[in-house]
Amino acid sequence: MAPVHPLWGLCVFVASIMIILSTLDSVTAATYTSRVPRTTRVPRTAPVVYTPSPWTLAHATFYGDESAASTMGGACGYGNIVTNGYGTDTAALSSTIFTDGYACGQCYQIKCVQSPWCSKGVATITATNLCPPNWSKDSNAGGWCNPPRTHFDMAKPAFMKIAQWKAGIVPVQYRRVPCSRAGGIRFSFQGNGYWLLTYVMNVGGAGDIGQMWVKGTKTAWISMSHNWGASYQAFATLKGQALSFKITSYTTKQTIVCNNVAPANWNLGLTYQASVNFH
Ligand SMILES: *[C@@H]1O[C@H](CO)[C@@H](O)[C@H](O)[C@H]1NC(C)=O
Repeated sequence: MAPVHPLWGLCVFVASIMIILSTLDSVTAATYTSRVPRTTRVPRTAPVVYTPSPWTLAHATFYGDESAASTMGGACGYGNIVTNGYGTDTAALSSTIFTDGYACGQCYQIKCVQSPWCSKGVATITATNLCPPNWSKDSNAGGWCNPPRTHFDMAKPAFMKIAQWKAGIVPVQYRRVPCSRAGGIRFSFQGNGYWLLTYVMNVGGAGDIGQMWVKGTKTAWISMSHNWGASYQAFATLKGQALSFKITSYTTKQTIVCNNVAPANWNLGLTYQASVNFH
């Protein structure tokens, strides 16, 4: 029998411990990887669905004509509301509910009540504009949009779905409803090389935006500030980087991440669409 070195036993002992440890390690790793999809799949991506608010009394008037041409370029910054997907069923909100533009993109159902001019229809409108106060008129005689009144100055085609236009002004009941939008959120870029001004359109669910961030491939998340209407800005040089956006809903506080919305060769004046949306 060959002589056994006294340290040999110790070597075998250490080696066995190491084998046991590495086995334990791979067991832990296996358990970990099998757990990851479960935790990410179930609670975090479960869609938050915006539910309608109760019906509330207000009043409605209309502006513009049947073409809704005068509803273009409203205070939300949507520009051409028809080509941008909002159609002609839109309204200007009194400042009480316009809330400095945070109401931009919200959807409302409006029906006429308590007036011989009412028809049975319900209009579903998107908030695209502000109805400013006119303090030279009494709040109950023409100054319909003066605070604290809740008022909808509807595009004429939308108004004609709920009442005869001859009525001028009608009492209505309204409620917030989820906005159903086809496809993902859209981002329209303006600004310059050091300033990205983004108009956010086609937002589903509650339809509104409370906070927003942008991220280039070489940056961390950059908080964007509210400019006007539905536009948000970042003072940053982002040229040549693919851009992602993160949006928190004003109403639901739900946050959505829109990854790689714009490719690295993005340009000002163009609109980019995310693959995700609120519901
Ligand atoms: C406010 O009302 C006055 C009186 O009717 C009118 O002359 C004026 O044009 C109105 N202003 C706006 C901004 O609509």
